[in-house]
Amino acid sequence: MCGIIGFTGNIPAKDVIIGGLETLEYRGYDSAGVALLCDGEITVRKRTGKVEELKKLCADMDNPATCGIGHTRWATHGGVTDVNAHPHRCGQVVLIHNGIIENYRQLITEYGLADDIISETDTEVVAALIDKFYEGDPVKAIKKAVKVLSGAFGLCIMFQDIPDTIYCIRNVSPLVAATSDRGSVIASDLTALIAYSKDYFVVPEYHLLTLTKDGIDVRDMKGNEVKPQMLSVNWDIASAQKGGYPFFMLKEIYEQPDAIRNTVAPRVMDGMPDFTDDGIDDSVFENIDKVTVIGCGTAMHAGMVGKHLIEAKLRIPVQVEIASEFRYKNPIIDEKTLTIVLSQSGETIDTLEAMKLAKANGSKVISIVNVKGSSIARESDYVLYTHAGPEIAVASTKAYTVQVAAMYLIAARMGVVKKLVSDSETKKFMTKLINTPNIIEETLEGANDIKRVANHIKLSPDAFYIGRGLDYTMSLEASLKLKEISYIHAEAYAAGELKHGTIALITENVPVIAIATQEDVYEKVISNIREVKARGAYVILISMDEKVDDVKICDKHIRIPKLDPEFTAFATAVILQLIAYYTSEAKGLDVDKPRNLAKSVTVE
Ligand code: F6R
Repeated sequence: MCGIIGFTGNIPAKDVIIGGLETLEYRGYDSAGVALLCDGEITVRKRTGKVEELKKLCADMDNPATCGIGHTRWATHGGVTDVNAHPHRCGQVVLIHNGIIENYRQLITEYGLADDIISETDTEVVAALIDKFYEGDPVKAIKKAVKVLSGAFGLCIMFQDIPDTIYCIRNVSPLVAATSDRGSVIASDLTALIAYSKDYFVVPEYHLLTLTKDGIDVRDMKGNEVKPQMLSVNWDIASAQKGGYPFFMLKEIYEQPDAIRNTVAPRVMDGMPDFTDDGIDDSVFENIDKVTVIGCGTAMHAGMVGKHLIEAKLRIPVQVEIASEFRYKNPIIDEKTLTIVLSQSGETIDTLEAMKLAKANGSKVISIVNVKGSSIARESDYVLYTHAGPEIAVASTKAYTVQVAAMYLIAARMGVVKKLVSDSETKKFMTKLINTPNIIEETLEGANDIKRVANHIKLSPDAFYIGRGLDYTMSLEASLKLKEISYIHAEAYAAGELKHGTIALITENVPVIAIATQEDVYEKVISNIREVKARGAYVILISMDEKVDDVKICDKHIRIPKLDPEFTAFATAVILQLIAYYTSEAKGLDVDKPRNLAKSVTVE
């Protein structure tokens, strides 16, 4: 949450910073600001609204500065106002921050900072503190301040009297950095670095970085020079651009076939699942007797799909846990529990903390993560990277289906190692998994039909998703997606549970999206559909039927390709994503940046 960028080099900084903020905007869009350092003067401009607003505010700025910092905010402490926007200035110091300083009130009292601050933010307190400690030695002042901060922070700091230099330090909140022939750049996310270099490093926690146009100096808190481990990006700038699509979300929906191919193909050897290149040893699976899956939101829903498969195929119990709940539990897990942690960003703080708790209880952790070198990836015992490329839209789509594919890979390998599934059965399963991108491509061909469905849904304040078994799990994800980008109140219900209360909400024309892809409960779902149809619902049925003409069952039928029940999730997910997408688009909303949300939730 919050996008931050700093640049110092040999080209004008303003365009670098504002361009970077545009690519980072999905991390927060309550306000944006920039600070430029030139000839002993720091100019700050900031304003509420999206980066577009900042751009207008800076249009008349002809500042030759080659050093600057910028921020796009997701508000935590203090309302969405100009004064609360970053950068914050206090005396000689101007800084930007991502994270939360938990003891900021205490610091105000302890260091007598009340008169120095004008905003309601925790961040400004850090600026005031560093300025208080500053007596000409920036490193000394920053170290002294950081020692008394508690909480999460990624900080980029400039001093008015130190030309062309940015200081950075972090705890928990992500920061990545790179150097190029144009200068040194630091940001909260790779998408802002890729225009400058494909080689980067993750800033180590509690290390102080000094960025100048000639390079980046990294030192630990004792002042020892540290050589950070370099990583390379395996996608290019085009992946972080819309490429002709009206929104990133639509682009990312269409990228799913390739994302799954890139995730699955490298893990198949002679038709069998293989984690040799990931360094995941078979011993991880050998002695486990249960699985705990941890994630938030969509990532957690992907884990639920995995649970269905593992329990049905392997008969191993799987508990899916909401990370923010799990982290404050006394969990029933031990060294015989395998913990699987799912996170696109690899930075979700609740997931990270929940994972640490699982490890502390003796469980081995495999993380399924999309962002290389992210905190969750680094701190887990093993990591299975998904190769979805950058996901920019706030609403997760391709990251979800690749997470499901990764869960399927784990289930397949676990079945082999524990000798629960024969090699020939596993090979058949893998052939189907390898084929899922083709299924998704086929499903995407029906996208136009879905636009018509969305035109009905957009008129309603409420919508309901129903299904049984795996389809109920899909309903949960579908209702989250519709809520977050179309602002329509949506509920997911186990189809058989509806009549125990919620059916009271079904009235004339209320959209009910019924998912009936599971053979064993198909007839049961159809009966539940008849119950809502009898009460006037407008039913959209998603099933494998060639044709459904019966108006007593549905008003609209969306067909998914004929598939084995355990593989329907991929096709169904795409349909449900498109329903949410087209509904939001039909309402004229900013699909990629839904209100109140941000990508990468680094606060509790
Ligand atoms: C919804 C969505 C969120 C994320 C959740 C976890 O579309 O994207 O629910 O899935 O915030 O994020 P990661 O996967 O980065 O841990």
